[in-house]
Amino acid sequence: MPGGSLTSSRIFRDYKVVAKLAESDVITSFTLALADGADAPAYRPGQYLVFRLLVNGAAVLRNYSVSGDPADARVLRIAVKRESAPMAHVPAGLGSNHLHDHVRVGDILTAAGPMGDFVLCEASQRPVVLLSGGVGLTPMMCMLHRLVKSSQRRVFFIHACENGKVHAFANEVRALAGMREGVAVHFCYRSPDSVDLGFHSQGLLAREQLQALLPLDDYDFYLCGPGLFMQANWRMLRGLGVDQQRIHYEFFGPATVLEEQGAPAEVVAERVPVVPEASVSQAPTALPAIRKPEQMQVESNTAATGLQVSFMPSGTVVDWSDGCESLLELAELSGLNPDFNCRAGLCNTCMSTLVSGQIEYFEPPLDDPPPGRMLLCCSRPLGPVVIEIDA
Ligand SMILES: Cc1cc2nc3c(=O)[nH]c(=O)nc-3n(C[C@H](O)[C@H](O)[C@H](O)COP(=O)(O)OP(=O)(O)OC[C@H]3O[C@@H](n4cnc5c(N)ncnc54)[C@H](O)[C@@H]3O)c2cc1C
Ligand code: FES
Repeated sequence: MPGGSLTSSRIFRDYKVVAKLAESDVITSFTLALADGADAPAYRPGQYLVFRLLVNGAAVLRNYSVSGDPADARVLRIAVKRESAPMAHVPAGLGSNHLHDHVRVGDILTAAGPMGDFVLCEASQRPVVLLSGGVGLTPMMCMLHRLVKSSQRRVFFIHACENGKVHAFANEVRALAGMREGVAVHFCYRSPDSVDLGFHSQGLLAREQLQALLPLDDYDFYLCGPGLFMQANWRMLRGLGVDQQRIHYEFFGPATVLEEQGAPAEVVAERVPVVPEASVSQAPTALPAIRKPEQMQVESNTAATGLQVSFMPSGTVVDWSDGCESLLELAELSGLNPDFNCRAGLCNTCMSTLVSGQIEYFEPPLDDPPPGRMLLCCSRPLGPVVIEIDA
């Protein structure tokens, strides 16, 4: 494991870009070394860095998974998909386009981490299925390096994407698979070009295909990709009888964008922790969701506190209840839908304006909000508060 301390993962550090490479028409990788010359921080395959990017004079936080070889103590590699505008009059993705267009070799990027719970379980000896869609392959690359070089476990690397133009790391995956026995690769292109040769199946990944690819066994599944890919494949795996405890997963896409696309509630959460062990006995066919307002109730054994919380601009006024975890949860319980992403003080998506009153953080924000601003997901009120939720 590279040097550094896991406990320092919430500190922002400067990284120098030592290489920048187009891995496909839409995905570019950036290889980063700590600017002070120290070894890269320690991490587990699957973890990500949180970047503080200065875009048009404003700081934005964006997460990018470590996608390189975890045995390399000197550098970390990330790979970023350029997020184009989904329709006219909508801006293109801020962070990804900034990285693609303006960040060059020699530039300094500031990032915290690596962090995250979507990690390869190396205590297990079960065969592993790495199942990714689109840019969801980035954490799988890191896992594949580790599995090929440091284990004898059987590995099935299954990747779905549009076609060869957008397919990143195809040669790297093939080369890794060629390094030892027991590593199988399957590339599935939704609509291959006439020039595409190196794919194994066409269309959407189907149940029969997965059954044919995977001999009957007890696997650890790792799943990462766009919301609809995640939903379809989660359902497929559960339909094939795969235990929920065996499916580890992570979402990449912004929650609000998924909502706007009319995706079902099950895929609205952007980033959901690895399936909790406590929920093993249930057998849902849909991904466990971060709780939605209509599914939640303030626990009945907790008394209302008399602390009034006013949410603007809706004018919703509610009493704070100690049964609520955070002001974000209170807002959701009240029928409001503030934007959120990490729900852990890491991404600033839930940043709102504290119009009056005082709050406390039960989880310190990774990056302190500017004066007058606050994070909903990791705070509670200390008295009556008025909060303006960003539109
Ligand atoms: C744990 C984790 C790991 C991740 N790892 C990776 C990774 O390895 N590689 C990677 O590429 N990404 C990764 N992501 C996603 C990444 O963090 C960013 O969310 C992604 O790059 C998009 O950021 P952006 O600033 O470019 O786009 P944003 O500015 O956040 O916009 C996102 C999309 O919304 C559209 N949009 C903007 N405004 C509107 C609007 N008003 N209405 C409708 N649509 C709008 C944009 O055009 C764009 O397509 C990861 C995310 C998480 C949570
Ligand atoms: S949702 Fe990420 S900081 Fe609140």
